[in-house]
Amino acid sequence: MPTEAVSREGAHCMSDDVPLPTDDEPIIATAHRHDTYPIHVTRTLPAALDRLLETTEGARLAIITDERVDQFHGAALRAQLDERGIRYIQHALPPGERSKSTGCALELWDWLAGSQISRDDYVLNFGGGVICDLGGWVASAFMRDLHYVNLSTTLLGQVDGAMGGKVAVNHPVAKNLIGAFHQPSAVVHNVGFLETLDPRHLSAGMAECVKKAIIASPPYWHFINEHAEQLVEGDLDALEELVRAAAKIKSVLVERDPYERDLRRPLNFGHTIAHPLETVAGYQDLLHGEAVAFGMLVETRIAAARGVLAEPLVDPLVELLIRLRLPDCHDRLPIDTCIEPVLQAIAPVRRIRGGSTNIVLPKKLGVVFIVHDVQNTETACALSACGMPHTAAMANE
Ligand SMILES: NC(=O)c1ccc[n+]([C@@H]2O[C@H](COP(=O)([O-])OP(=O)(O)OC[C@H]3O[C@@H](n4cnc5c(N)ncnc54)[C@H](O)[C@@H]3O)[C@@H](O)[C@H]2O)c1
Repeated sequence: MPTEAVSREGAHCMSDDVPLPTDDEPIIATAHRHDTYPIHVTRTLPAALDRLLETTEGARLAIITDERVDQFHGAALRAQLDERGIRYIQHALPPGERSKSTGCALELWDWLAGSQISRDDYVLNFGGGVICDLGGWVASAFMRDLHYVNLSTTLLGQVDGAMGGKVAVNHPVAKNLIGAFHQPSAVVHNVGFLETLDPRHLSAGMAECVKKAIIASPPYWHFINEHAEQLVEGDLDALEELVRAAAKIKSVLVERDPYERDLRRPLNFGHTIAHPLETVAGYQDLLHGEAVAFGMLVETRIAAARGVLAEPLVDPLVELLIRLRLPDCHDRLPIDTCIEPVLQAIAPVRRIRGGSTNIVLPKKLGVVFIVHDVQNTETACALSACGMPHTAAMANE
């Protein structure tokens, strides 16, 4: 163990005596990592900041946000920080998925490099899943790993995107292609922010809750079914319960497998279809949650066609998606596409995964299989069962 002493002048003297490895040591050393961080759920901005500042204390904050979030909540955040004597700088990007790009990451690095931000400071991601993914990745590379905290403002961010440390930007070839695992120092959800979120984005966030319910929590499925109408109407009590439960489920799943070696993979349910669909849409017009809703249905139909479903799930899922105002078929997607481009966009994902496409297939609530052998013909059949046409059919119209 190193020893440390402080001289009268305040200089730190560190002394150490690390032994050389012996010839018979099979592993030279074990590198330890500490990734523990708190997740808080609050109802107001002052309460959220109380929790956040427990982690960042008096450090300077580099706030990354988008122009829409800034318009609704930026002035209140800055007023609260001024009141508490916290120093900050801020950069706002255009809202939406298109900002989750290498171009915006470069813009942010230039901004940080020209600022007074140091390794003792924190990036504060103030926005939805896009800002948390982008800002987390920017922080992971800046000064070789700057601390960051997430103060998420969308339902999707609060129930999923802000937690788990998967940070990335999109690439025209594939969604989230360039990124890292870089855990935040703290995550704070203020459910009060959801009052200004528009209904379409509120619904989109619920897709990630339905996903968690199917893969890991029958009680959560029942909760969502019992409160679907209150949730889409934006009832804050129901939303707070939804967010608290999602935080718990996600942290349990992530804790088992923080770097997605295996056990965390059920969280990808719906995403093997959703991500290629978003790539086909050019990362615009289609919301991530809408793509996940449709993707879950396609993957559940694949499970049904293979005969792996141990209880009926397709109809209950369709019914719930309709009540949550999420796409339950091709005609309710906000983009018009067909089967072949989606299959083509799955190909790079297969390459990234070393030649096989992992698909999470539900067996029943709380039980999933991860399979690697789903054929394009099966995916095409399931897409078709969801009303998606073939390219030839589109051409003949
Ligand atoms: N890292 C992960 O584990 C993970 C998990 C799930 C999703 N994601 C990512 O999250 C992203 C989607 O996140 P999203 O749906 O939050 O999108 P988003 O961040 O683009 O936010 C959606 C829209 O809502 C606006 N907005 C945000 N907060 C608001 C508020 N309180 N009031 C009014 N408007 C507000 C934003 O300006 C934006 O226009 C995707 O890129 C997805 O890949 C990441």
